[in-house]
Amino acid sequence: MARSSCSRRRRRATRLSSASGIDEAADLLASASRGVALTGAGISAESGIPTFRGPGGLWTQYDPVKVATIENFMADPASYWEVARERGPAVLAAEPNPGHYALVALQNAGRLVSVITQNTDGLHQAAGTENVIELHGSGRTVECLDCGTREARADVQLRLEFQMPPRCRICGGKFLKPTVVMFGEAMPEGAVIEARRLAAEADVMLVVGSSLVVYPAAEIPIVAVRNGASLIVVNDEPTPIDRLAQVVIRGRAGEVLPEVAYKAVNEGG
Ligand code: APR
Repeated sequence: MARSSCSRRRRRATRLSSASGIDEAADLLASASRGVALTGAGISAESGIPTFRGPGGLWTQYDPVKVATIENFMADPASYWEVARERGPAVLAAEPNPGHYALVALQNAGRLVSVITQNTDGLHQAAGTENVIELHGSGRTVECLDCGTREARADVQLRLEFQMPPRCRICGGKFLKPTVVMFGEAMPEGAVIEARRLAAEADVMLVVGSSLVVYPAAEIPIVAVRNGASLIVVNDEPTPIDRLAQVVIRGRAGEVLPEVAYKAVNEGG
């Protein structure tokens, strides 16, 4: 009994003070060779893309059942595109922030092998991250469900000013769907299998900016911990897996991750 409460106390101490959490996280990453990051909307918040559930989050303004289920999309594609007409420009104009670039630095230094993301904004790839696993697909492309034609999202976004819902430029069909995984849709099998494999082989799992309430993405860090990985959580509010973590840093990804990466890469933790 005594041993476990002592390690809980040790973990709790690290959790509260971000300064020491940054050193601890850098230590763990400095000796990682199969590190994996799992990211959520929080890493893109500082790029101007609202999150889903935090203050001002998308689902505090819109009903996800109406806007993001495949069932409702097939019944009324405009229910998705009307929201996209408003939100789309900010997402399409967004640039990677220091949090995204810090993960690139960790990958270039051989500390991270992959970034598994729930985000569909493409900002990890835009920052230069390789081997990005997009669990929820990509919002950068749109596919016609009638003829299979694919288009860049930016092109379709321009048509929303005069066409709602937007039509396929080849067949005229009205089911132009972003290549994201909507609620009720099957997950991209290959991406899930690859994410689980990377998590099972990881020596360090770094979770950034996710409320970890959506499955199967939220299971990925648990697969890593079950297979012996150390867990680091960087989030500006508590998450359901904080108790499993060696290090929990309560802070903004764009401020915390550059410090962690700098120490891990340049100071060996
Ligand atoms: N730095 C760190 N964490 C942040 C920041 C920030 N700058 N800003 C917000 N956060 C935290 C929030 O406190 C919240 O816990 O990021 C988390 C974002 O959680 P969600 O909005 O729930 O986003 P996410 O976990 O990615 O959602 C999962 O749900 O709606 C679906 O498909 C959608 O991929 C999405 C999935």
